[in-house]
Amino acid sequence: MRHMLTLIGSTLLSLLVISSAAYADAQAKYQACAACHGEAAQGNVELQAPALAGQDAAYLARQIQHFKAGIRGADSRDTQGAQMKAMAATLSDDDIVVLTEYLAALPPPVRNTQGSGDLKNGNNYYHAACGACHGGQAQGNPDLNAPALVVLDATYLKAQFQKFQQGVRGEHPDDKYGRQMKMMSSSLPSDKDLDDVIAYIQTLAVAQ
Ligand code: HEC
Ligand code: HEC
Repeated sequence: MRHMLTLIGSTLLSLLVISSAAYADAQAKYQACAACHGEAAQGNVELQAPALAGQDAAYLARQIQHFKAGIRGADSRDTQGAQMKAMAATLSDDDIVVLTEYLAALPPPVRNTQGSGDLKNGNNYYHAACGACHGGQAQGNPDLNAPALVVLDATYLKAQFQKFQQGVRGEHPDDKYGRQMKMMSSSLPSDKDLDDVIAYIQTLAVAQ
C-alpha cells in the first residue's frame, strides 16, 4: 500500500514538473508578443492590439493560422492585420498550440471603463442581434466558434466590426466563421447603434 502511494505521489509530482515546464516554455514564447499585447495579455489600445487573456484557445489558434495563411490581415486596407500577419509567420503549429492554451488560461483583463451611450438601446440590440452567438454575458460560445467580446476593449471591438462591414475581414472563401460574422455585421442599422452595443458590452466587462 505504501509503495502504491509513493508511486501515485511521484506520478503526480512528475505531472506537475511537466506542466510547470510547459508553462515556463509558453511564458518564454509569449515574450515575443508582450510588446504589443501587454505583459499580462491585457491588450494595448494605443497599438490597437487586442486582449488575448481569457479568450477561447481554439478561436485564438484559428486566428493565428488565418493570419499565417493570408485569410485574415491580407487586405491592403488592414494596417493592424498586416502587423499581426508578419508576427504569425514566425510561429510553428506547436508554438501556436502552446501559446493559445497559455493565453486562454490567463485571467481576463479587468476593465475600469464604464461605457457611455444609450445602454438601453445597446442592451436591446445586443440581445436581439449578438447574444445568440456571443452569449448572454458576451462570454463567447466555443460550440458556435464565437469568441468572447467581454474581454475586448471598445476601440478594438469597433474596428473589427467595421472591418467585417467593409469586407476587410471575413471575405476570404476559406474564412468560414469570419463569413458568418460578416453577414451579421449588417444587422445594426447605424454607427450609433454599434456604439451603444459596444457601450453595453463594456458594462458587462465592468460587472464581471
Ligand atoms: C507588432 C505588434 C504585435 C505583436 C508583436 C504581436 N501582435 Fe498579435 N496582434 C497585433 C494587432 C495590431 C492585432 C489586431 C489585428 C487586427 O486589427 O485585425 C493582433 C491580433 C492578434 C490576434 C487575434 C485576436 C482576436 O481577438 O481576433 C491573436 C490571436 C494574436 N494577435 C496573437 C499574437 C501572439 C500569440 C503574438 C506573439 C507570438 C502576437 N500576437 C504578437 C499586434 C501584434
Ligand atoms: C451567427 C452567429 C453570430 C452573431 C449573431 C454575431 N456574431 Fe460576432 N462573431 C461570430 C463568429 C463565429 C466570430 C468569429 C469569426 C472568426 O472566426 O473570424 C465572430 C467575431 C466577432 C468579432 C471579432 C472579435 C475578435 O476577437 O476579433 C466581433 C467584434 C463581433 N463578432 C461582434 C459581434 C456583434 C457586435 C454582434 C451583434 C451585432 C455579433 N458579433 C453577432 C458569430 C456571430
